Amino acid sequence: MYTLGIETSCDETSVSVVENGRRVLSNIVASSLNLHKRYGGIIPEIASRAQLESIYPVAQEALKEARVRINAIRLIAVTYGPGLNGSLLIGVSFAKALSLACNIALIGINHIKSHIYAPLLSRNTRAGFPFVGLVISGGHTSLFLVKDFDRFIPLGQTVDDAAGEAFDKVARILGLGYPGGPLVEKLALRGRANKVKFSCGNLDRELDFSFSGIKTAVLYKIKNQKSRIKNTDKADIAYAFQEAVFDDIIKKTVLACLKKKVKSLLVGGGVVCNNRFRLKLGMALGNQNIKTYIAEPKYCLDNAAMVAGLGYQLYKKGVKSKLSLGTEPT
Ligand code: KG4
Ligand code: ZN
Repeated sequence: MYTLGIETSCDETSVSVVENGRRVLSNIVASSLNLHKRYGGIIPEIASRAQLESIYPVAQEALKEARVRINAIRLIAVTYGPGLNGSLLIGVSFAKALSLACNIALIGINHIKSHIYAPLLSRNTRAGFPFVGLVISGGHTSLFLVKDFDRFIPLGQTVDDAAGEAFDKVARILGLGYPGGPLVEKLALRGRANKVKFSCGNLDRELDFSFSGIKTAVLYKIKNQKSRIKNTDKADIAYAFQEAVFDDIIKKTVLACLKKKVKSLLVGGGVVCNNRFRLKLGMALGNQNIKTYIAEPKYCLDNAAMVAGLGYQLYKKGVKSKLSLGTEPT
């Protein structure tokens, strides 16, 4: 069965064709990132205007690359939230119009949950339920106990900044540009261990996260050294920041797996592109007898294949949306 996935929750316009929830036949991603770079962050109005222009050609390209005609599509899965409302509206309106015009079933998908599905794409792996799902992205840092594709139980989340957002802000403080994650990762490669130390906040709820304190600590570190700061100092700071954030996330993820006695962990979201994170997580879970499924880098960042994949699984369970489907930005 062919599913058409549509994802427009932030600056990307992505459309994908996925067969039986796993086999990705096409996954086209158009980004308006270059239009936002000079502002140092995503400007919602610019994002949604670009999406309005690109949604139709991107959908055409996705069908063409997959060699699937629209009348062979059985399901349209579209992200309805969370995300930027103007952007979500483009995807949801397009999906509803296509569903109505071509008489295809429609299903609205939660963006955070779709990131957790990403490790299952293009693989035959069966991660048995229940498993722990971890999402680390620009908008979210969340842990779930996943009992089934329609039963996600929240275990913990950030109480302030998301991890990716903290990377972006620290990159700006270090004068690196946007998006910050890959730039901080690159700089941290030249950083030396034990030159600087940062830590993340501990919270009453032990599986919650907080990254705004560490971002402020980086800011003060830079301010205090202002005129004397060298590039080596910046690299040491990037290294220490990255280590502290990842140590905190990994510690809480292992704790969640042990507390819930699960045998597998699924991990997705833009920050998961980070090679240092992938290495550290692998090392931490290798000793724990917990099987870890990490999304391929191309499915970590926002993409429509993960939306189509989760959509297919929910549809098989009888879930469907009506044409009155609305957006849920938060
Ligand atoms: O999942 P995503 O594409 O969008 C959201 O749903 O938010 O994630 C984007 C985030 C950005 O904050 C970006 O800086 C971060 O992922 N990111 C990284 C890396 N690549 C992207 N963070 C750390 N290291 C990376 N290599
Ligand atoms: Zn995302």
